[in-house]
Amino acid sequence: MFFRKNKREIGIDYDNLPVHIGVIMDGNGRWAKKRGLPRSAGHQAGADTLKKIVTECNKMGIKYITVYAFSTENWKRPKDEVDFLMNLLYNYLKDAEKTLAGENVVIRAIGSREELSEKIRQQIRKTEEFTKNNTGIVMNIALNYGSREEITNAVKIIAEKAVKGECRPEDITPEMISEKLYTGGQPDPDLIIRTSHELRLSNFMMWQASYSELYFTKTLWPDFSMRDLHAAVMEYQRRNRRFGGV
Ligand code: IPE
Ligand code: IPE
Ligand code: MG
Repeated sequence: MFFRKNKREIGIDYDNLPVHIGVIMDGNGRWAKKRGLPRSAGHQAGADTLKKIVTECNKMGIKYITVYAFSTENWKRPKDEVDFLMNLLYNYLKDAEKTLAGENVVIRAIGSREELSEKIRQQIRKTEEFTKNNTGIVMNIALNYGSREEITNAVKIIAEKAVKGECRPEDITPEMISEKLYTGGQPDPDLIIRTSHELRLSNFMMWQASYSELYFTKTLWPDFSMRDLHAAVMEYQRRNRRFGGV
């Protein structure tokens, strides 16, 4: 069924929306370089894009969005860039508490918190607490996130249970592993979008992406617009998902 929303004919089937969208927000550095600006300007522009896209996903009725903001491998970048990104994420969380919370968004951080500064950890706790009773879209910010770390962490939790005699190794199921990931209790992403034409997952949701539809676009993340989001959703709706069946 196609219908008009916000007086715009956008050709989206609202009965067949992806429930969960994952986004690998890539290309900030190249966006800045093209303009002769420092990489930090690209990250700042990317953060502004993120707010717009989350707001639109929420309006569209998408239930979950997971955005890759900082990977476990991104610590390899120059200290100046890492410091800038951490500060940007801190400000994003702080600001989101006011703006996105007002739009009913539930904000959560996924990833390992151990390596993050106490200042950021505290802000994560505050933002999560402040938005936890909201009823709109759930936004997972993948921050110091990597699938391999996430799966390793889940395995450790299950191994400890086995050692304590709370479960037997032969009883471990894929569902138990899913449950112990940072996204435990949430549906797997239906659609994963990656910008900037890099055709890889870069350690993003590798367990959860088993049957996700992958969408790659040449658009650099700061330029990613509502139109691009709609194009990705419409492309998703043209796919034939089979999950191994016929
Ligand atoms: C994505 O943009 C943001 C992060 C990884 C934090 P990049 O910084 O990777 O931008 P490119 O890939 O160098 O253009
Ligand atoms: C993936 O982008 C991480 C984020 C978007 C946060 P990268 O730019 O770090 O990935 P690679 O290095 O090109 O694979
Ligand atoms: Mg990149």
